[in-house]
Amino acid sequence: MKKAEQLSTDKTVLESYLKGQGWLHGTEMIIAVEIPGAGNMNFTLRVKTGERSFVIKQSRAYVEKYPHVAAPIERALREAEFYTLVSAHDVLREQMPQLLGVDNDNHVLNLEDLGDGVDYSFLYQKDKILEDVELEKIMTFVATLHTSINSNTTEKKLPNKEMRKLNHEHIFIYPFLKENGLDLDEILPGLKGVGQEFKQDKILHDKVQILGNRYLSDGKTLLHGDYFPGSWLKTSDGIKIIDPEFSFFGDPEFEIGVTLAHLKMAAQPQDLIEKALKMYTDLAPLNEGLCKQFMAIEILRRILGLAQLPLGINLEVRKALLTEAREILV
Ligand SMILES: Nc1ncnc2c1ncn2[C@@H]1O[C@H](COP(=O)(O)OP(=O)(O)OP(=O)(O)O)[C@@H](O)[C@H]1O
Ligand SMILES: [Mg+2]
Repeated sequence: MKKAEQLSTDKTVLESYLKGQGWLHGTEMIIAVEIPGAGNMNFTLRVKTGERSFVIKQSRAYVEKYPHVAAPIERALREAEFYTLVSAHDVLREQMPQLLGVDNDNHVLNLEDLGDGVDYSFLYQKDKILEDVELEKIMTFVATLHTSINSNTTEKKLPNKEMRKLNHEHIFIYPFLKENGLDLDEILPGLKGVGQEFKQDKILHDKVQILGNRYLSDGKTLLHGDYFPGSWLKTSDGIKIIDPEFSFFGDPEFEIGVTLAHLKMAAQPQDLIEKALKMYTDLAPLNEGLCKQFMAIEILRRILGLAQLPLGINLEVRKALLTEAREILV
């Protein structure tokens, strides 16, 4: 098989690549390229011509920010499959960038440019609270996704096994290893000591393993797979949902558990978190017990694992969240 072409910011090379794909027409020229926003996993670039702009996203055999870390090379194609599944559903499609093209050979997406938005990672900062209308949009989108695209409505599959395997290691394995190459005290002094007791808890690990196996088994509902503030974009046209590279058919409880965990780590008020859950359950069925268990895992893995977040909460609050998570699980 031909080796994938490695895209770069070199305008001449990029122009010829884009023309080869039919993504630029004959006389169209690149005026500027820019990084559209912070990302770790992929090579993402905004291309501006005199007439328009679009975003290209290439997945490579490694994590863009950490080239020594391997990652499934075809993940952009899994993301494309998600966009294709969603494209038949107006309400969902309108809240995501349109997929304008796919290069299967080089694992590149051509996506509608949603403009100069920021993702909702700012929520982790102190005193940033979601507005009701924003929360409503976020929870309604995900409930609509789950109720619209599932094994009752489509025969299509999206196992995305390789990305799930990668995520499984980060969620269910690494955070609980005694040595995982991460010095938690460097993230926050004192965190390492707090982490020890969770790394030594055999009963906890058994529970985590059961949920990990559940994450790896196929379910009936199409999930975005990474439904947290980093996938919610604040644009001039409202909230848009991006980056479904971890999507698969699984348990909606995993998806909502992850979302609730992030609302908690972003120190959103308790009544807002309850409202989020109610907004969802008013629209879609949910096993709340299972959802809370996945929520607990996401809290443990984000505080103790490798995929750290720019959290504003201090050691005491992190410790309280970890303790609450353990109580839910054991
Ligand atoms: N279609 C788009 N229109 C405008 N901006 C975009 C678009 N797609 C991505 N971005 C911007 O680029 C950033 C990175 O994109 P994305 O999250 O898809 O990449 P990623 O490499 O998968 O990131 P991560 O490592 O967080 O998973 C987004 O946070 C957003 O700011
Ligand atoms: Mg991503």
